[in-house]
Amino acid sequence: MQSQITPTASVWSTSADIPSYAPLTTDLRVRVAVVGAGIAGLSTAYMLAKRGFQVAVLDDGPIGGGDTGKTTAQVTCIVDKGYAETAELRGEDGARLTAESHMAAIDTIERIVRDEAIDCDFARMDGYIFLASGDTPRTLVDEFEAAKGAGLRDVELLSAGVTLSDVHLGPALRFPQQAHFHPLKYLAGLSRAIERMGGQIFCGTHITRVNADAIVTLETTDGPVIGADTVVLATHMPINDALGYSTRIRAALTYVIGLHIPKGSLPNFLAFDTADPYHYVRIQAEGDHDVLIIGGEDHKTGQADDMDQRYLRLERWARAYFPMAGEVLYRWSGEVANSFDGLALIGPDIVSPHVYVITGQTGIGMTHSTIGALIVADQIADIPNPWAELYTPMRAPARSLGEVVSEGLNVLSQYTELLKGGEVASEAEIPAGSGAVVGWGPTKVAAYRDDQGVLHRRSALCTHLGCVVTWNDSAKTWDCPCHGSRFDSYGKVINGPAPADLSRAEGERGTR
Ligand SMILES: Cc1cc2nc3c(=O)[nH]c(=O)nc-3n(C[C@H](O)[C@H](O)[C@H](O)COP(=O)(O)OP(=O)(O)OC[C@H]3O[C@@H](n4cnc5c(N)ncnc54)[C@H](O)[C@@H]3O)c2cc1C
Ligand code: FES
Repeated sequence: MQSQITPTASVWSTSADIPSYAPLTTDLRVRVAVVGAGIAGLSTAYMLAKRGFQVAVLDDGPIGGGDTGKTTAQVTCIVDKGYAETAELRGEDGARLTAESHMAAIDTIERIVRDEAIDCDFARMDGYIFLASGDTPRTLVDEFEAAKGAGLRDVELLSAGVTLSDVHLGPALRFPQQAHFHPLKYLAGLSRAIERMGGQIFCGTHITRVNADAIVTLETTDGPVIGADTVVLATHMPINDALGYSTRIRAALTYVIGLHIPKGSLPNFLAFDTADPYHYVRIQAEGDHDVLIIGGEDHKTGQADDMDQRYLRLERWARAYFPMAGEVLYRWSGEVANSFDGLALIGPDIVSPHVYVITGQTGIGMTHSTIGALIVADQIADIPNPWAELYTPMRAPARSLGEVVSEGLNVLSQYTELLKGGEVASEAEIPAGSGAVVGWGPTKVAAYRDDQGVLHRRSALCTHLGCVVTWNDSAKTWDCPCHGSRFDSYGKVINGPAPADLSRAEGERGTR
């Protein structure tokens, strides 16, 4: 579907002084190589460098160019599945360790901000879960009891509702001691600290292959090879998928708008409603006004084409609750990696013990990534970690088996696309600045017509496991409906599990 609404960059993109780093140009031998310069990779490299490990971080984009640059950076222990469901899926001990690790992650971020004097708008505040219209108060009562049971003793049930300035959100749970920050300013501070401690950072360096031998080698698009005793894959979606991480994670796109509100018209707060998918809310100061940030409208990656409607629904929702909301200043989207039990997958790879992963961080990747860094840094230093077992990637899918099966069926059904025609009958139907899948079967082509009218053709088969990609006219990307790989308009891979760009197609460039 043709998109009429043009998204903007995220609210963070122009307000951080991000250091830039050159690509790797020669072979490198290092003790620990960390792939990914988002919050997971940089936090891990920071903690390892602090312990005296020689580290190198490699990323194919700039610092924070992945989903950490698109996050809303609520720093919270309010887990996606809630504590009632977490206790059901992982037991009461599991729920307790979940709460403990997330609260420790908030403290860790605060401590790093203080120790490194990172000016990143970090602030503590209350977080709320409030009832979505149509949900019964019982939902909140159950979650209240489960949160208390998980050790979050200060959580409060506000049956009469929560009022923030003139805004009434209805019955809610209050979680004290949550936080928010500016994610790119935080990453900039981590990068500088890593460098100061002797760590190296290389941007513009795409890793194409991980060879997990006694010394792990990483191959790059431009040739240099990295040898490391230990590798941490902090690429959000793992790039070595031989072990099937992609079948244990459901990738979803989520949408955000930022609305102008008068400065100080709302206090700092975090909020989530009980809808599925949920809405999420925070405030960010900007110049002479504040920005009310609202997100939600998630859907499985590659399985929707009504992005304009999603932005409009978010705006309607925002205006229904927040009468002071003015002009929409920002609209952006990004991807979240949802594990089936709502907890990240963190630790040594199942069959390659020198390769560690941090993935499946769900919608609360600030804390999950920080927990990932704490666990992996301990594991590499051979120090026992109390949360390692909870988050191990080796765990069975617990009682979320039904969800695993239904996800498997959803993926299988995507392959029937190979038996159907393309999104348009001919390339002539593709307007400038847009794309579509054309043709039949395995010869399907992902055709993008640039603003000058030139057509760029790539194979439409995802380089992960061969599903047919779909055109996302809002983000101008090719999205894979199977396991969430994304490619730019020209077929260059943005994120895995696909290891490589979309393959060349016949007549790669043209004007038809
Ligand atoms: C719109 C939105 C709102 C969100 N809101 C919140 C929130 O309020 N609170 C919260 O806690 N979480 C939130 N999340 C989730 C959170 O942002 C993510 O979980 C988190 O940023 C993931 O961090 P990461 O470091 O794993 O990934 P990324 O930031 O994506 O970093 C991974 C890096 O790996 C690099 N990379 C990938 N493949 C390769 C390769 N082959 N070679 C070299 N480099 C590679 C990428 O370029 C990227 O820079 C939100 C996410 C989105 C999209
Ligand atoms: S992401 Fe798995 S086939 Fe595309």
